[in-house]
Amino acid sequence: MRGTLTVGNWKMNGGLADNATRFAALARGFRAVPGRALAVCVPFPYLAQARDALAGSAVGYGAQDVSRHASGAFTGEVSAAMLAEFGVRYAIVGHSERRQYHGERDDEVGAKARGALAAGITPIVCVGETLAERDAGSTGAVVGRQLGAVIEVLGVSVDRIVLAYEPVWAIGTGRTASPEQAQEVHARLRSQLAAAGAKDVPVLYGGSVKAANAAALYAMPDVDGGLVGGASLDANELLAIAGS
Ligand code: 13P
Repeated sequence: MRGTLTVGNWKMNGGLADNATRFAALARGFRAVPGRALAVCVPFPYLAQARDALAGSAVGYGAQDVSRHASGAFTGEVSAAMLAEFGVRYAIVGHSERRQYHGERDDEVGAKARGALAAGITPIVCVGETLAERDAGSTGAVVGRQLGAVIEVLGVSVDRIVLAYEPVWAIGTGRTASPEQAQEVHARLRSQLAAAGAKDVPVLYGGSVKAANAAALYAMPDVDGGLVGGASLDANELLAIAGS
């Protein structure tokens, strides 16, 4: 039994006043039960607010990206060591929006995951196919390549990551993968992880997860939780998903 992990990805949303309300609702509303975990990944400037507002609660927090470099002349980048100073537990790496809009490549995703681990931060590695790739029947090849690149960089340390399967066609579209579609890809990813000695890595599903569909997704044997975008901006909705 791997338990479930629900992670909210606020993306580029939030503001000090709204965040305060949201953090307070999560800290108050989340009951820590063994095998059930909740975290939110917020924009960099709000990490200190998350640290203070979630202190003493069972809700973890994380960043949405991390530099692959340790330090130096990389204007605008934020290192894993800096995130660690703010008590960050997770850093999302390889989100499809970073791959699509910022040209992030598979090898960079691996390097970011390695940097996060070295700083004691758990990388949440995202993989997923576009609609065109799914229609072409290449879902397995695409996610296999994306995960394979990370395994190549991390080696045996891959057992310390969290993996998220996020089909690009299901992100922000309201069009969720069916539980069976998710399970099929998760099982494939699980066997790839098992071959790398990491069968117990949590594999989250992301893409239009909401309270109304979370229970059916979480019931799948290889779905270990969710990476939640839009619905995570509503604290009660996120709490309901985490309780699924
Ligand atoms: P939505 O839940 O808004 O579809 O976003 C999913 C996602 O990209 C989470 O990282």
